Amino acid sequence: MFRNATAICLHLVGPLRGKKSGASLTRCLHQTLTMAKRLQARRLDGIDHSPWVEFVKLASEEADVVNFGEGFPDFSPPEFAVEAFQHAVSGDFMLNQYTKAFGYPPLTKILASFFGKLLGQEIDPLKNVLVTVGAYGALFTAFQALVDEGDEVIIVEPFFYCYEPMTLMAGGRPVFVSLKPSPIQKGEPDSSSNWQLDPMELASKFTSRTKAFILNTPNNPLGKVFSREELELVASLCQQHDVVCITDEVYQWLVFDGFQHISIASLPGMWERTLTIGSAGKTFSVTGWKVGWVLGPDRLMKHLRTVHQNSIDQCATQCQAAVAQSFKREQLHFGQPSSYFVQFPQYIQRCRDHMIQSLQSVGLRPVIPQGSYFLITDISDFKNKMPDLPGAANEPYDRRFVKWMIKNKGLMAIPVSTFISVPHQKFFDHYIRFCFVKGEHGQRVEWRKWKQQKQEEKKKWKDLKMTKKLERQRAQEEQAKRQHEEEAAAQSEERGLVHAVVSALCQDRVREDAPETLMSE
Ligand SMILES: Cc1ncc(COP(=O)(O)O)c(C=O)c1O
Repeated sequence: MFRNATAICLHLVGPLRGKKSGASLTRCLHQTLTMAKRLQARRLDGIDHSPWVEFVKLASEEADVVNFGEGFPDFSPPEFAVEAFQHAVSGDFMLNQYTKAFGYPPLTKILASFFGKLLGQEIDPLKNVLVTVGAYGALFTAFQALVDEGDEVIIVEPFFYCYEPMTLMAGGRPVFVSLKPSPIQKGEPDSSSNWQLDPMELASKFTSRTKAFILNTPNNPLGKVFSREELELVASLCQQHDVVCITDEVYQWLVFDGFQHISIASLPGMWERTLTIGSAGKTFSVTGWKVGWVLGPDRLMKHLRTVHQNSIDQCATQCQAAVAQSFKREQLHFGQPSSYFVQFPQYIQRCRDHMIQSLQSVGLRPVIPQGSYFLITDISDFKNKMPDLPGAANEPYDRRFVKWMIKNKGLMAIPVSTFISVPHQKFFDHYIRFCFVKGEHGQRVEWRKWKQQKQEEKKKWKDLKMTKKLERQRAQEEQAKRQHEEEAAAQSEERGLVHAVVSALCQDRVREDAPETLMSE
């Protein structure tokens, strides 16, 4: 042991012999021990800072901050899913072992039959389905499999934040196109369906270098559900420019107000160039299970299988078994009131409405979402009232607002600039994102503090107004009294003068009327 340690010291000090002793020797030794080589792979340049981690950390540093930032439910999954998981853990012991690399066969089978009907495709469980570690895993596998050095990838913003770093890590170049809100009537609430792509601008983004178009419907963070016309436009541009469409549809069951989710892969000619991504986490409210999938034509899927085989290789078998069982249950209840895919959006729509009311009650202006877990809310009224929140002057306002909200209101949200490319952030820095997949009761409790403060502020403001009114009244009364007194004084002075004049006149008169004798006296 001792001999080994000596050998290591000699090995380290050896290259330093002949160099100066003292501080420089220590420095050299330190450099040798900490490695002088560049450690971070170049593909991570520019993406090593996560605002996500930063805001979650900020919230954890304050006591009792409610997390409306991150996208997961705070209520239990449906009973059938929990039972399926329990069964997978305590049933067949072979579910503790590896399964097929591209997916547990009962799961790939049910995904093929379930989505085959929805997409109008004959789906082969072996060739057209890949099970991944969540939708995240599906996205990563797709980018790695298809995007090459210099390829352009069109991303619709605001976008789910991993699309940009995933494009960069694959060597691609993100090209952004923004959803923009149309003007609304004053006093009317904004709606996510009011945010649209400009067809001319969209078309201008497609070039001969475009490899993929990233679609997310229902969209995170905006909650926009793309209409058939919008999807048809994207589809025709993808076909015209021979572009692959990667569509992230993890919130497909969460659509509200009678809106309908349409998979772009179901449009004519699109299955052949589309990868459709889903998530069991979002589908059955089990985000911790991390089971996702990709569906697509074999000519694309075979490249994803290569990436999967050489990276993830396998996903947790028991989680896959529980998801398979849950889909089997849903297939039996499909379209009926007993279906989770029917009940869940109804419940979440109520949660959304609670969140909208809460936001409005404290003076925020939510953009009503038609789908997903999320909504964004306009904070420009606060920006006008409180332009100077703490934080660096060049920091986007939405980031400073969220920091203020965490500290002062005990609520955490996510700044929307996080979902926007850097050059466009200044146009979107007056929005923040809230997750509303939080139980109705929980929401009411969590907003109480801000509402209470707002009511107290309102009361203070009212009291202040009343005090000012009373002060004004008192001042007016005093002024009136003073005026009255002055007038009275003036009048009495006048009366005194008149009296004096009259008495003087009277005296003169008396004198005039008096007999001469008296006068002379
Ligand atoms: C749009 C979108 N895609 C993908 C994911 C990742 O899903 P999963 O948890 O299945 O990896 C999320 C999670 O928030 C999401 O919002």
